[in-house]
Amino acid sequence: MRTDTGETIRLEDYRPTDFVLERVDLTFELDPAATKVEARLIFHRREGADPKAPLVLDGDELTLTALHLDQTELEAARFDAGAEALVIRDLPASEPFEIMIGTLIAPESNTKLMGLYRTSNVYCTQCEAEGFRRITYFPDRPDVLAPYTVTIIAEKTANPLLLSNGNFLGGGNYDEGRHFAAWFDPHPKPSYLFALVAGDLGVVEDTFTTASGRDVALKIYVEHGKEPRAGYAMDALKRSMRWDEQRFGREYDLDIFMIVAVSDFNMGAMENKGLNVFNDKYVLADPETATDQDYANIEAIIAHEYFHNWTGNRITCRDWFQLCLKEGLTVYRDHEFSADERSRPVKRVAEVRHLKAEQFPEDGGPLAHPVRPTRYREINNFYTTTVYEKGSEVTGMIATLLGREGFKAGMDLYFDRHDGQAVTIEDFVRCFEEVSGRDLKQFSLWYHQAGTPVVTASSAFDAARGTLTLSLEQMVPPTPGQSAKAPMHIPLRFALILPEGQVATPSAIEGGDVTGDVLHLTERQQTVTFAGLSGRPVVSLNRGFSAPVNLHLEQSAEDKALIARFDPDLFARWQALTDLALAELVAATQAVKAGQAVAVSNLLVDALLATAGDAALEPAFRAQALALPSESDIARAIGTGNDPDAIHAARIFVVRHVAQAGQTLFATLIDEMKVEGPFSPDAESAGRRALRTMALTYLSHAEENPARAKAAFDTANNMTERAHALALLAQVFGDTPQAAHALSDFRTRFADNPLVMDKWLSIQAAAPGHAALERVQTLMKEASYNALNPNRVRALVGAFVFSNPTGFNRPDGAGYQFLADQVLEIDRRNPQLAARLLTAMRSWRSLEDRRADAAAQALGKIAAAPDLSADVSDIVERTLK
Ligand code: PHE
Ligand code: ZN
Repeated sequence: MRTDTGETIRLEDYRPTDFVLERVDLTFELDPAATKVEARLIFHRREGADPKAPLVLDGDELTLTALHLDQTELEAARFDAGAEALVIRDLPASEPFEIMIGTLIAPESNTKLMGLYRTSNVYCTQCEAEGFRRITYFPDRPDVLAPYTVTIIAEKTANPLLLSNGNFLGGGNYDEGRHFAAWFDPHPKPSYLFALVAGDLGVVEDTFTTASGRDVALKIYVEHGKEPRAGYAMDALKRSMRWDEQRFGREYDLDIFMIVAVSDFNMGAMENKGLNVFNDKYVLADPETATDQDYANIEAIIAHEYFHNWTGNRITCRDWFQLCLKEGLTVYRDHEFSADERSRPVKRVAEVRHLKAEQFPEDGGPLAHPVRPTRYREINNFYTTTVYEKGSEVTGMIATLLGREGFKAGMDLYFDRHDGQAVTIEDFVRCFEEVSGRDLKQFSLWYHQAGTPVVTASSAFDAARGTLTLSLEQMVPPTPGQSAKAPMHIPLRFALILPEGQVATPSAIEGGDVTGDVLHLTERQQTVTFAGLSGRPVVSLNRGFSAPVNLHLEQSAEDKALIARFDPDLFARWQALTDLALAELVAATQAVKAGQAVAVSNLLVDALLATAGDAALEPAFRAQALALPSESDIARAIGTGNDPDAIHAARIFVVRHVAQAGQTLFATLIDEMKVEGPFSPDAESAGRRALRTMALTYLSHAEENPARAKAAFDTANNMTERAHALALLAQVFGDTPQAAHALSDFRTRFADNPLVMDKWLSIQAAAPGHAALERVQTLMKEASYNALNPNRVRALVGAFVFSNPTGFNRPDGAGYQFLADQVLEIDRRNPQLAARLLTAMRSWRSLEDRRADAAAQALGKIAAAPDLSADVSDIVERTLK
C-alpha cells in the first residue's frame, strides 16, 4: 500500500498567513554533498492575527543545523522540526523579528530535480511549485512576497559563475580557493520564483534598450562550445521584449536578464525573476541539428517565460488553485506573439490541433478538472493542458467578447491595479467586467466547470421567405466531482457563406444574441433566424475555433466541401476539411473492423488535393490541410470500444488512396517547394519545407517504396528534412535495408549530440506495430539512452506511450505492463516524471474490452505497489476511479 498519500488541499480553506514576511537574506556555501544554507527571515505578526499563533514553515527532506531568534539560539522547547514543517512558538505579538535558519542539503543526491540539484556539474534550482522548501524552512506559498538578497559562496575554479535573481551587487575572493557573489532582487517575489545557478558555462551576450531608454544586459548561458547554438534564442528574446512593449505596454524592469540552459529539467522552462532556467532542448538550435518545429518551440517558450515577468512575476497567484491566472494568460500572450511573428491562421491551426490532441482527451477522461480547480492532492499534477491551453482559450474568449481594444483596456487595468500583488481569477475577471460594463458571471463557468462542451447545430433554409434558421443546443458532459452542469456562455464566430465564397449579410437577425460576427450561445437551446437572404448560404460556425467545444454541425459533406474551398477564413477551411476527413476515417475504421472494403469519397480527395495545389495559399497552410486527423483524433471521435490496430489500418488505407490520386501533384510539389540558398528558420521557408515533406510522405505511400525517402535522407541539408525522411523510413518502411542504413548513418553522425539522439530514439519508439515494445527495450541499452535524464526518458519511453497507439496498446497488454514497471522504477528517483508518463493511460476506458482489462490490471499493479510518491498515487487513483 502507498505510504505517502498527500492530503487533499481545498480552495475554500485558503487563509492568509499569520505572519508577514518583510525580507529574505540567503547565504549558500555550495558543496555537491553538503551545501550549507543560512536563511535570515524578517517577519512581523499580521495585524489582526492571533497573538499566540505559532509560525509554521514548510520543509521537505531538510537537515536543520541552526535556529536563532533575533541572534539568539532558540531553546528546544520553543520549536518542533518535523519532516514537513518547522513550528516556532511564543513569537513577538507585533514588532518585527528575525529568524535565522541553518540547513544542510545534498544537491548531488537530489534526483527529484526540485530544490537545489546538480546537472552536468552545474548547481541549479527549480522551486515551482513547492521546491523552495527543499532548500530551507520557509512559508513556501505564492502569496508570501518579499525582496531577496542572496550571497553565494563556492569553489572558484569549478564555479566561476555565481548567479541569482535581480541585479548583481558585487563579489570577490572568499577563502581557500572560494569566491562569492551577492545579488539583490528589489521586486518582492514568492519563493517559487527564486533561482540560483553556479558552475562553469559559456555565454552569449547582447543588450536591449527599453522603450523608455534603459539598457538591459542580456545573457544566455550554455555549456562551453554550444554558444553558436544560442543565437536564435537570443533573437527570439529581443523580439519578445519589443513585442511586449508594443502590444501590452510592458517594459522589462531589471538591469539584467539571464537565461541558463541545463540538460536535466523536468519541464520546458522556468520564469524565475531575471534568471530563467531552461531545458536546453528549448534554447539550442542550428540548421544541422534543429528542425523547424524546434525553432518554433524555442521562439514560443523564450517568449512565454519572458512574458511571465509581468503575467506571473509582477502579478502572481494568491494560491496554486489560481495557476491558470499566470499560465493560461501567458500561453495566450505567447500564442499572440507567435501569431504576429508568423502566420496567424497557420498558428491557429497548430494550436487547435494541439488542444484537441492533448486537452480534449484530458477533459473527457478521469483526469478532467476545471481550469481553476478547487482541490488537489499534488499540485505538480496540475501543470496540465487544461490549465495551460484551455486556460489560454478562455483568455482568448474574453478577448472575443470585449474586442481587441476592450481586452487591452482590461489588461491595462489588471497591470495597474494588481502590480506587486498575489491575486485570484476573480480579480482578473473583474478588471474586464469593469472596463466593459459586462457581467461575466456566466462566462466564468469556463473556469469552474470541467469537460468539453458539446454544441449541436443544424440549419434550415426557407427559400420562399429568404430566411435561414439556425438551431443550437449545448451540453457539458459530467466530469469527476461534477455531475450536473449549468449552461455556459459560448461565443461562436460565424459567417453565412455563399457558393463562391462571398459572405452573405442578412437584413435582420431574430431570436439570438449576436454582436458583429459573434453569436452568443448562453442557453441550453437557442434558435436564431437570419432574414433577407436571396439564396441558401452555408453556415460556417465556430470560426477560428472561437470556443473550445466539440461542435456537431449537421451539414452535408457538399456544404463542408464548399467551406473547405471557399470560406475566406483559412481556419474555417481547415476545420471543414478536417471534419470531412474525420468522418471518412471513422467510417473507414468501422469498415476495417467489419472486414468490409474501405471507401474514400472523391469529394474528400478533391478537396484535399485542391487545397494542396492552390498556389494562392501559403505553403504552411497547405501542409496543415494535408495532415489528416491523427490516430488518436479518430479514437476520440469513435469514443468507445477502440481498436488501435483497426484505426491504424484504416488511416493508412485513406492516406494511400489520397496519395495515389495526387501522385502527380505531390511529385510537382517536391520540386516546387525546394528551398534554395542557405538555411533560414523563418516561417515562410519552414512552410515550404512542411509542404515539401508532406508531399514526400504521400508520394512514398503511393509508390510503396522507400527509395525516395532514402534519397531525401541522403541529400538533406537541414534537420527538418533529414529527420522527416528518417521518420518515414523507420515508421513506414521499417523492415527495409534503407531504413536500417539511415538509422545507423544518423546515429554515427549525431552520436555526440544528445538532443539530436533524442529524435533518433523518438522516431523508433513511435514506429507502429506490435514489435515496438521489444525495439524500445533494446534501445534502452543504447549508449545514447540515460534513464536518469528526463529528456532521454521522454524521448524513448514517452514517445512510445504517447505517440505509438498500436505499439503501446498491443492486445496482450505488454505495453501497459512495461509502462507500469517504468513508472514504478522512475518514481523512486523522480516522481514528477513518473506521474507524467502515467497520464498516457488516461483514455484506457475508451479501449475495447481486452485492452481495457489489461490496462486496468497494469494500473492496479501500480496502485498496489508500496511507497508510491504522492504524485503517482494521485494520478493512478484518479485514473482508476
Ligand atoms: N512555470 C513554468 C512555465 O510554464 C513551468 C514549470 C512548472 C516549470 C513547474 C518547472 C516546474 O513557464
Ligand atoms: Zn508558464
